[in-house]
Amino acid sequence: MLKGILNYAHYLLEESIHEGETAIDATCGNGNDTLFLSEIVGENGHVLAFDIQEQAIAVTKDALIKNGISNVSLIHDSHANISDYLPNEKNQTIGGAIFNLGYLPKSDKKVITRPQSTIISIDIILDSLKRNGLVVLVVYHGHQGGKEEKEAILKHVLKLNQKEYKVLQYGFINQKNDPPFIIAIQKR
Ligand SMILES: C[S@@+](CC[C@H](N)C(=O)[O-])C[C@H]1O[C@@H](n2cnc3c(N)ncnc32)[C@H](O)[C@@H]1O
Repeated sequence: MLKGILNYAHYLLEESIHEGETAIDATCGNGNDTLFLSEIVGENGHVLAFDIQEQAIAVTKDALIKNGISNVSLIHDSHANISDYLPNEKNQTIGGAIFNLGYLPKSDKKVITRPQSTIISIDIILDSLKRNGLVVLVVYHGHQGGKEEKEAILKHVLKLNQKEYKVLQYGFINQKNDPPFIIAIQKR
């Protein structure tokens, strides 16, 4: 059966990331993806989870405590600064990453992911990604600023060299109201 967008994003991450690896949640929000990644990498692995909003960091921290999780570093900073937090950037040890774009549900809709920082971050992660690792983007574009980000990201990933990366777009084309879709980038 066809998987929904979030299920498919998680399926891809499970395929890409293995126990003991480092994984990235570039936009932790309420922490759902952070918890999911934490489980995949296990106690010998490590998750770096970013958000620029204090509220998102606090909610995710609570969820980590409630679930007794200790393999996550919560980082209150933009994912554009990710190279400051990657231990061995050149070693290509990242198992995979997720970007859940847009705004935090039930929060300030003006605090959104922005094309420039998203693209900077994608490129840094791609450099540090292991072979066959995946960067998964869930692109929400119905809000103000969303269309601009969608177009900038598509333009950017279309230029990735096909000898180095496979780029997939996955989404439902008969749904109303600008449904989200996935872009998945696999390093060859
Ligand atoms: C759609 S929400 C993420 C939802 C989250 N994955 C979850 O499971 O709840 C997008 C998040 O991106 C955050 N954000 C926006 N710009 C960012 C940036 N430059 N770096 C890191 N996080 C950012 C927002 O604060 C917001 O919490």
